[in-house]
Amino acid sequence: MKDEKTVLITGGSSGIGYAISTYFAKAGFRILWVSKPEEELQQARQDLLQLLPSVDLHTFAQDLSLEGSTQATYEWAKQFGTIDVLINNAGFGTHGFLQETPIEKELNMVRLNVLALYQLTRLFLDDMLAQDTGTIINISSNSSFQPVARMITYASTKAFVTHFSRGLQEELDLQGSKVRVLTVCPSAIVDTPFSKDMRDVKTFNGLVYTTTAEVAKDVWQAFQNQKTFLVTGKRMRFFYSIRRLVPYALQQYLTRKETERIPS
Ligand SMILES: NC(=O)c1ccc[n+]([C@@H]2O[C@H](COP(=O)([O-])OP(=O)(O)OC[C@H]3O[C@@H](n4cnc5c(N)ncnc54)[C@H](OP(=O)(O)O)[C@@H]3O)[C@@H](O)[C@H]2O)c1
Repeated sequence: MKDEKTVLITGGSSGIGYAISTYFAKAGFRILWVSKPEEELQQARQDLLQLLPSVDLHTFAQDLSLEGSTQATYEWAKQFGTIDVLINNAGFGTHGFLQETPIEKELNMVRLNVLALYQLTRLFLDDMLAQDTGTIINISSNSSFQPVARMITYASTKAFVTHFSRGLQEELDLQGSKVRVLTVCPSAIVDTPFSKDMRDVKTFNGLVYTTTAEVAKDVWQAFQNQKTFLVTGKRMRFFYSIRRLVPYALQQYLTRKETERIPS
């Protein structure tokens, strides 16, 4: 039996991917990071090694929105043996009415948030099924619960992530598999580069925002407790629990308000 477990985290060098990495590193997992710019990976690597000098950390610079990058990631990861946990975290969002958003950026977002997550899940799932063990953690969003004006493409990519991931867990249950999928739905996180163009959007200043520390703690606890669905942050969990009592039109009104920019 091998003693060191391995977690592969896409987008692990920044934001919640980095914060989640610290929990896995402290628990003795070997960490594999796949993110875009080499410099950011190396800087984040130095930071984590400074915090936890004994961590076994490896990096692979890949633009996961490009054709062939997920296969390359899978082949690179195989040198480390079994991947016990795959965390599909890399993702980004756009803001604005559809016709105002750059189409190439939106297409890249769909390629990353949807296609790369789908392909990595397929690639690593086969190995996990063969060994009847392993966990896939897919980072979705609270925007996956309903259409979100001014973020419709982003919210739609996350609707795919939530339905695909929860559906896969249901299929695994039907087959009696021990492989697990944890779907994570964070609300607006105020302290990551993701929100740097959206600091004045109400949701990053409102009732249900959260932080990387809160998300990472919740994810680690959910992983340890073998949960399959997680809405992160106490306030967002409360609103999620009562949303069925709220008429759809009111839900949409409140959601529309959340994505307005605060006038300067
Ligand atoms: N922040 C929020 O409010 C929020 C709320 C709910 C859900 N989420 C989700 O949480 C996840 C992490 O977001 P975050 O807030 O932690 O943002 P972040 O700090 O910007 O982290 C995203 C990571 O993904 C990487 N990445 C982006 N494009 C990539 C590509 N084409 N190929 C490979 N890696 C790429 C980024 O690398 P680069 O530095 O190269 O961009 C970065 O390491 C995302 O899936 C996001 O949708 C975020």
